[in-house]
Amino acid sequence: MKLKRHAILLSIAALGFGAGPLQAADGEEIYRSAMPPCSSCHDTGAAGAPKVGDAESWGDRLDKDTAVLVQSVKDGLGVMPAYEGKNTDEELTASVQWMVEQTRNGE
Ligand code: HEC
Repeated sequence: MKLKRHAILLSIAALGFGAGPLQAADGEEIYRSAMPPCSSCHDTGAAGAPKVGDAESWGDRLDKDTAVLVQSVKDGLGVMPAYEGKNTDEELTASVQWMVEQTRNGE
């Protein structure tokens, strides 16, 4: 009984956390829900994709302007498909910002 209440409290805490700063939550959600999901390549570094949380794999990309990075995502780059027309600029910008933040903070 006591354990159960603990579990409920934990899920309430998790919900509260999920409702944190709107932009950060959006960025991660788009990262996971765009088609195909950014996470399918950028979680693992598949196909030479810069891996989220691994600054070394990003190299100079971390110093690029967000607008430049977003443009690459809109146009597609190498094996990365073009997302222009699939997601709005705002959505792509939020997901790129989320990726860069995770990577900068990941050290
Ligand atoms: C099929 C795998 C794949 C998917 C899906 C994918 N990417 Fe990529 N992404 C890559 C690869 C590979 C590169 C490196 C391309 C190169 O430099 O040749 C890359 C590069 C990037 C870069 C760096 C661009 C630059 O100018 O250096 C960003 C930012 C990025 N992806 C964000 C995203 C976002 C946001 C999404 C989802 C909306 C996404 N990617 C989906 C594979 C993928």
